[in-house]
Amino acid sequence: MPEAELVVVVLAAGQGTRMKSSRPKVLHEIAGRPMLAHVLDSVAALAPDRVVVVAGPGMEPVAELAAAYPRTEIAVQAQRLGTGHAVAVAGAALGTAREAADVLVVCGDTPLLRPETLRSLVARRYHADAPDLLCLAFRPQNPNQYGRVVLDDEGGVRRIVEYADADESERANDLCNAGILLGDGAVLFPLVGALGNDNAKGEYYLTDVFALAAAAGRRSAVVEGDPEEVLGVNSQADRAQAEEVFHMRLLGRAMAEGVTLIDPTTVWLSADTRFGQDVVIEPAVFVGPGVSLGDGVRVRAFSYLEGVRIEAGAVIGPFARLRPGSVIGPDARIGNFVEVKNAVLGAGAKANHLSYVGDTAVGAKANIGAGTITCNYDGIAKHRTEIGAGAFIGSNTALVAPVRVGDGAIVGAGSTITRDVAADSLAVARGAQREVPQGAARFRARHGAPGDSAQQAPGKMKPAKKKPAKGKPVKKAAKRATAKKATAKKGATKKSASKKTAKRTSAGTRRPASRGGPRSRKRK
Ligand code: UD1
Ligand code: CA
Repeated sequence: MPEAELVVVVLAAGQGTRMKSSRPKVLHEIAGRPMLAHVLDSVAALAPDRVVVVAGPGMEPVAELAAAYPRTEIAVQAQRLGTGHAVAVAGAALGTAREAADVLVVCGDTPLLRPETLRSLVARRYHADAPDLLCLAFRPQNPNQYGRVVLDDEGGVRRIVEYADADESERANDLCNAGILLGDGAVLFPLVGALGNDNAKGEYYLTDVFALAAAAGRRSAVVEGDPEEVLGVNSQADRAQAEEVFHMRLLGRAMAEGVTLIDPTTVWLSADTRFGQDVVIEPAVFVGPGVSLGDGVRVRAFSYLEGVRIEAGAVIGPFARLRPGSVIGPDARIGNFVEVKNAVLGAGAKANHLSYVGDTAVGAKANIGAGTITCNYDGIAKHRTEIGAGAFIGSNTALVAPVRVGDGAIVGAGSTITRDVAADSLAVARGAQREVPQGAARFRARHGAPGDSAQQAPGKMKPAKKKPAKGKPVKKAAKRATAKKATAKKGATKKSASKKTAKRTSAGTRRPASRGGPRSRKRK
């Protein structure tokens, strides 16, 4: 018997009330990818002739996701009347084509499904006994609320009983329905059209087609699958369980590709993470969607990566954060507490400590000193920074974008760079240093050694005189200062150092002075 065309129907219209979320269930993510995308990936591996995704009204993101797959269309189920009704909606979209095809129905909430399992279902249809309908079943450790598959004496499906409708003895049967069905379209759709909704949920259950098929003398069969693979996600707890299974798969796959994971289970990978050869990932690293790690890349502990291409030989972290739109060039270094966003670093460029590099192009071998900040945002728009090849940015530099530092230029530490710096120039933009010879010694003589409050016996402390608070209006403060100067100048030399120390070290006595300051007055 030649194989018929293959049409796949993906059920994704349910809101997923048990997820307690405003997001459609099938868009909840596993390994950084919507569940529906995982299902569509497995479906696409079968190279079907047509795929119909049944979505609910207003589920534009579901339609958008489906549009990324070949030969895939959307059918909208206006009312969520059950899985059987959803298949009828898909049937209407397919038109007469549905009769000649094999129809595979999968649920959008079964993200761990492998293409091999779907293939085995298709293959079973072409065994000598050529069953009209096939059900993918499994025996989980905890059969939970899955529908139960009741077999007849020949191993065909007599009927499927939904958990809500099952009695104790039926629930004791551990053969569960995975929610995946394959049928001859010419048999399936007429049965779907005959479904009723006289059941516990008042829904049109797709599963009832098996009882109808048996009554009509149609042949059915069961293929048993791996319980781990057909896990249906109905709740947040189910999602977390699926995530764990998928996580272990990804770790296994990465190691099979030769990635060294020092402590695998502490590393988080995404479904689309790409690895070169000899990649090493240290413990506690999060790799979000859209990350590729080139040959010999090492990601050190506690780093967070998403949407970044890291090229051969680069070393990242520890404690690095790489954000979307970034490319880290070959042999570049991103060190601790460095955040990189939408930035391209050239070969051998370095940002080793405590920096923010955003909306920036960094040339090859440029060196970005500790504490460098690209000030890319002025509160309204984002602006770009360009740092030329071989440039050296001194520590604690603020680069106020848009700004460009030319090739080979040097920026002195502590600079605030607001204008372009030409290639090979030296730019320094900071307050000039002032030195007061013996100033420190005089300061200590007046105030005591810093932190040395024990110098003073508390009993000898005297309440301080009111002093003008910091931030007093300049005029008033200046006036008072001139008035004081006349008396205090002489006094300062006469007064013993210890008296003044008492004034400073007693925090309580300083407070009244500052309370009278302008800041507190404003508050009233
Ligand atoms: C379904 C099966 C159950 C099986 C289980 C496996 C039925 C009646 N029950 O139960 O036997 O053990 O899957 O995981 O089929 N959906 C629609 N439109 C609707 C209703 C549902 O598109 O009107 C979609 C949902 O989005 C979901 C899928 O169909 O992706 C399954 O629906 P769900 O409500 O999760 O069915 P279960 O109760 O899990
Ligand atoms: Ca389900």
